[in-house]
Amino acid sequence: MDRILVTGGTGYIGSHTVVELQQAGYPVVIIDDLSNSNREVIDGIERITGIRPDFVEGDCTDMQTLSKLFADYPDIKGIINFAASKAVGESMHKPILYYRNNLNTLLNLLDLMGPNGVKGIVFSSSCTVYGEPDENPVTEKAPIKKATSPYGNTKQISEEIITDVINAGAPFKSVILRYFNPVGAHPSAEIGELPNGVPQNLIPYLTQTAIGIRQELSVFGNDYDTPDGSCIRDYINVVDLAKAHVIAVKRMLENKSDAKIEIFNLGTGNGVSVLELINVFEEATGVKVPHKIVGRRAGDIEKVWANPTYANEVLGWKATSTLADTMRSAWAWQLKLRERGVM
Ligand code: UFG
Repeated sequence: MDRILVTGGTGYIGSHTVVELQQAGYPVVIIDDLSNSNREVIDGIERITGIRPDFVEGDCTDMQTLSKLFADYPDIKGIINFAASKAVGESMHKPILYYRNNLNTLLNLLDLMGPNGVKGIVFSSSCTVYGEPDENPVTEKAPIKKATSPYGNTKQISEEIITDVINAGAPFKSVILRYFNPVGAHPSAEIGELPNGVPQNLIPYLTQTAIGIRQELSVFGNDYDTPDGSCIRDYINVVDLAKAHVIAVKRMLENKSDAKIEIFNLGTGNGVSVLELINVFEEATGVKVPHKIVGRRAGDIEKVWANPTYANEVLGWKATSTLADTMRSAWAWQLKLRERGVM
C-alpha cells in the first residue's frame, strides 16, 4: 500500500492518527522534531498496533531534511500535516515562531509534493477560522472571521496557500479538516495528550486537578449568553477525529472525488458547556473536580459547535464515542501517566 508521511506524528492528534492508519494497513513514516512530544510515543503506538512506524527526527521547516526524507522514502503517496505550533496564548508572544513553523512547514511540503509524486495532503485546520460565529451549529459555508491570534492566522493563511497552490495547477489534491475541540485518549491508555508545563486547555487541566496535581480548576466565566453562563464548545473524541484522517487520505489516493480541494468540519454536532463537561466527567469517573468560577479569559469564543453533516454524508464519517466514554479515556490516560511516574 501507499506510504503515508505523518508530520508531527508523535504529537497528540498525530499519534492517534498513526495508530488508525497502521490499523487500516498503511505503512507510515513519521517526521517530528520532538519539540512538544517524545520518543516514547512511538513505543505506545507499537504496543497498540504491533507495528513500529518508521521515525525520522527532524524539523519540517528545513528543506534539506525533507528532501532527504522523500529521497529515502520514494513510496510516500500521501501526507497528513500535523507539524505545527498550537498554543493560542504562546502565539501572541512568539508570532515569528508560529508563522515560521506553521507556514514554512506547509510551503516546504507543497513544494516537494509534485516532484516526489505525492498525490495529496490532509491539512489540520481549526474551527478557530470561524471566530465567534453568527450562528450555531457552524457549517463549512460560515464566513471566515479575522483571526484573533497569530496561531489562528496561520490556519487561515495555510488554507489560502493550499487553495492558491492547487488552483495554480499543482498535480495533487488536498483535504482541509477543521477540528472543533479534540479531547480524550486512546482507549488502551497507551497514548494521549501530554502538554508541557501548566496545561492551557480544559481537559488536561481538569484531569490534572482531579488527580491532585493542580488544586482547583478555574472556570473562565459564568456570565456568557449560554444556558448556564459558561462557554460552549464541541468536544470531539481524538480517536474519532483520527479515523476521519484515514478516510480523507484514502479519498485522495483512490481519487474518490473529482474535487481537488475539499473542506470538512470535524465535530460531533453537540455543544457542551464547561460546567456540563465537568459534570459529565464527575459522573463518568466518580471522581470530583474541585473548581471555582473566575473571570472570563481574554479572547475566548462564547459558543461554537459544528454542523458535521457534510463530513457525515460525503466522507461517511461520524463521531460515535459518547462524551462519558471520552472522559473515562482522558482519566485512564491521566492515571497511566501517574503509574509511569511521568506526572
Ligand atoms: N477553560 C476553562 N478553564 C481552563 C481552560 C479552559 O474554563 O482552565 C474553558 C475555556 O474558557 C473554553 C473551554 O474551556 O471555554 C475550552 O478551552 P480550551 O482552551 O480547551 O480550548 P479553546 O476552545 O479555547 O481552544 C481550542 C484549541 C485551539 C483552537 C481553538 C479553536 O485549543 O487550538 O480551540 O477555537 F484554536
